[in-house]
Amino acid sequence: MSILPKILFICFVFKTVTSDPINRHMKIDGNFDDWRNVPSYIDPEDNLKGTVYDVSPWFPSFKSPDCHDTDTRDTTTTPKHIYNPNVNIVEFKIAHDNTSIYVYYRVADGGVIGKTSVGPSEFNKNNPSEPSAGRFYVIAAVNIDHNDTTGYWLHGGAYHPTAPGFDGNFEIEFYNGSFNQNYYLDHGANNDTQANYLKQENKKNRFVILPSIYPYYTQYIYWNHQPTSDETQRCFDGPYRLPRPYSNRYICYSRDMAPGPFNGSLTYARSEKGNEFEMRAPFEGFLFNHYTGERTLQLGMTINISLSLETSEEYSIPRDWSSDTTATIRYTLSDTVV
Ligand SMILES: *[C@@H]1O[C@H](CO)[C@@H](O)[C@H](O)[C@H]1NC(C)=O
Ligand SMILES: *[C@@H]1O[C@H](CO)[C@@H](O)[C@H](O)[C@H]1NC(C)=O
Ligand SMILES: *[C@@H]1O[C@H](CO)[C@@H](O)[C@H](O)[C@H]1NC(C)=O
Ligand SMILES: *[C@@H]1O[C@H](CO)[C@@H](O)[C@H](O)[C@H]1NC(C)=O
Ligand SMILES: *[C@@H]1O[C@H](CO)[C@@H](O)[C@H](O)[C@H]1NC(C)=O
Ligand SMILES: *[C@@H]1O[C@H](CO)[C@@H](O)[C@H](O)[C@H]1NC(C)=O
Repeated sequence: MSILPKILFICFVFKTVTSDPINRHMKIDGNFDDWRNVPSYIDPEDNLKGTVYDVSPWFPSFKSPDCHDTDTRDTTTTPKHIYNPNVNIVEFKIAHDNTSIYVYYRVADGGVIGKTSVGPSEFNKNNPSEPSAGRFYVIAAVNIDHNDTTGYWLHGGAYHPTAPGFDGNFEIEFYNGSFNQNYYLDHGANNDTQANYLKQENKKNRFVILPSIYPYYTQYIYWNHQPTSDETQRCFDGPYRLPRPYSNRYICYSRDMAPGPFNGSLTYARSEKGNEFEMRAPFEGFLFNHYTGERTLQLGMTINISLSLETSEEYSIPRDWSSDTTATIRYTLSDTVV
């Protein structure tokens, strides 16, 4: 080997063996300086013409417009291009400290993450000028066990570019002009019977990792303190106080457009212009692995993560739901600084 390939080879080995360093300086405060030295990934910038495409390494001959509709749940039909600057991700980052995972999203200039319109009911395409209650989802999907057989394929939820094996999500919902709820999803079911089983397990502080298809999951808000009495009253199913090992942890099962706000342990902040967004998910919200009894997510694990933004019709061209999903990133929750 001549010297240059040798150096490149060493660099390559170094890059593949070093994992993502722990970062003890992350703060969710809307000041993004703490993200400056975190590795950055790009996502293509969608345009009005719809000439920007994403490709999944799992289906290399299938192209999907970068921002697209939210009902194409296979990998043969090309999704419709739906332009929406508020979901048009152009850059993203991932970081962690010893208790939490952090994700960063930046959309194209002019986009505002989490922007929703205010109105009495959902968008009505027969009367598009009538005000409507818009929705916006900030989504992070995690392949927790790094096993493609368990968890769901992204395209099952109409997210493209697709990838397999997502066992759980953490998300924030904005609805009718404001923050509505933050929650975790346990994606370990293939049918309603199994989804009921997940519910029984989650209440016992256990997270279930099993093969699954997209529509079957549990959705829960997680608090590391007692929810307010107002939240308690509005919760449909719960709150349940979790057993061991903590004394004051609660979950409430939820669903989209629940009567919020429900402010669990996930936190977020936005930049002044609104095109940058940071979100923190405490590991403990993923409960304990129902097989091993260990923390479901903890330092030392290697996970895969995919980020999406998704929103209702109001600010889209044409007026339809739109989403943008990033490439899947392999990420190691290293416990060392380098
Ligand atoms: C996490 O790190 C902080 C310092 O950044 C330290 O004070 C704390 O004890 C650590 N917690 C755990 C659970 O290791
Ligand atoms: C949205 O908020 C407005 C103003 O607070 C309210 O009048 C309207 O009923 C709300 N819409 C929904 C669907 O709750
Ligand atoms: C994790 O993501 C990387 C990068 O996209 C990919 O190469 C790898 O196959 C994924 N691993 C699993 C288990 O899905
Ligand atoms: C991946 O998950 C499947 C289904 O639970 C299991 O049968 C298989 O042993 C797992 N693979 C590894 C490498 O753990
Ligand atoms: C649910 O899925 C499991 C695992 O695939 C299967 O064994 C079970 O029979 C299914 N139950 C129903 C009611 O379809
Ligand atoms: C939710 O709680 C956090 C503290 O954990 C607080 O900073 C934030 O302002 C609250 N958000 C809402 C919408 O109430």
